Amino acid sequence: MTRTKSLSRRADRVADRVHDEATEGGAVWRVSALKEVSYDVMVQPRLLDPANPALARAVTSGAAPVRRLVVIDATVASLYSERLTAYLAGHDVEFRLCVIDAHESVKVMATVFEVVDAMDAFGVPRRHAPVVAMGGGVLTDIVGLAASLYRRATPYIRIPTTLIGMIDAGIGSKTGVNFREHKNRLGAYHPSSLTLIDPGFLSTLDSRHLRNGLAEILKIALIKDAELFDLLATHGADLVEQRMQPGEDAVGGTALTVLRRAVQGMLEELQPNLWEDHLQRLVDFGHSFSPTIEMTALPELLHGEAVCVDMALSSVLAHHRGLLTTAELDRVLDVMRVLRLPVLHPVCTPELLRGALADTVKHRDGRQHLPLPRGIGDAVFVDDVTQHEVEAALFALGERERATRQPKVRGPVDMGV
Ligand SMILES: NC(=O)c1ccc[n+]([C@@H]2O[C@H](COP(=O)([O-])OP(=O)(O)OC[C@H]3O[C@@H](n4cnc5c(N)ncnc54)[C@H](O)[C@@H]3O)[C@@H](O)[C@H]2O)c1
Repeated sequence: MTRTKSLSRRADRVADRVHDEATEGGAVWRVSALKEVSYDVMVQPRLLDPANPALARAVTSGAAPVRRLVVIDATVASLYSERLTAYLAGHDVEFRLCVIDAHESVKVMATVFEVVDAMDAFGVPRRHAPVVAMGGGVLTDIVGLAASLYRRATPYIRIPTTLIGMIDAGIGSKTGVNFREHKNRLGAYHPSSLTLIDPGFLSTLDSRHLRNGLAEILKIALIKDAELFDLLATHGADLVEQRMQPGEDAVGGTALTVLRRAVQGMLEELQPNLWEDHLQRLVDFGHSFSPTIEMTALPELLHGEAVCVDMALSSVLAHHRGLLTTAELDRVLDVMRVLRLPVLHPVCTPELLRGALADTVKHRDGRQHLPLPRGIGDAVFVDDVTQHEVEAALFALGERERATRQPKVRGPVDMGV
């Protein structure tokens, strides 16, 4: 009662003030409210081990038996549905699986409606029965958007099963799908109530998709974490080889450190700006040209690969502006090579990059807000990059690529006679 009174008193004050601003005969009410959000991101190894109660607790909130809808990526279902089924059944959870063949080309509204259909058929209630989304970034982005729309927002839990999902797509507030040729053009801010990260899922992920995730980790390293960069430079190839599996040996220890630092770094950047009120975002490094590059090259380039091409180009831009030394630029491009990530793609023409930057400027409300690395582990924003600079960077990157691909000129050969 007291609360309502004080709220309405505050509202009266605001209304009075804005009333003065209305022209004669008019009226104005201003409504303002804050939506507080908090959610956990948890690294939880052996998630599907029947002895591990974490998933059951998350799904049931301690009140089994319950009914839940699980939306799962088709590949993930083929690998894990048996263990998932045994786990949920063993914890008194009645559930239905909705299997989605999720990949970038079907990251569209039609697939969101497929999930919404499944939610409706299952009878998902409004507040207290979170839908479980289990899969890569494509799957969790689609389910997140479906959950944001269904009954104007139903809760969901994310279980990311790819590296990109674990350190990026599965831990922020953004959901979305592609629209026409535009990447993630339709979406909503709707974070899951919980994200459960089990690095064990990476044991079945192919090495290309692991590298794809390491590209987003490299992004965090370049903009804010020089130590993380060193770890990638030293252990990158082994991390891929050993599928980022935590363990007692040096690479196993590094895998967990890399994962934790990447999540920590990402959340540090996301949390203060969860609704993207500010469009100057360091985590947009590698995401200025890449949305257009990715969509134009689709399905040839994966998300992280397109981001890596953008990071390479942006790093050369930074070098030309004196923000990176030649040695630093060499190190950046070397790590990309160690991780066997692309630094260029044939779709990258001057014209395409002009359009890509123009589209990004619209997305950032008329400003470039282009993050560029300043040394390794730091970054600045620039707003005055010219088409001439972009073309010079593209040319220089092409020249470097040609030089690294050409066989080394050998010196005189000792015939050993
Ligand atoms: N919402 C965000 O903030 C955000 C952030 C970064 C990226 N994204 C989005 O994420 C998407 C990329 O995500 P992704 O790289 O996870 O792609 P993805 O979801 O397509 O998954 C990649 C492939 O791995 C398979 N897979 C998933 N888990 C597996 C496992 N454990 N073992 C074997 N195979 C497995 C999938 O079936 C798929 O074929 C892009 O659409 C991108 O826009 C979103």
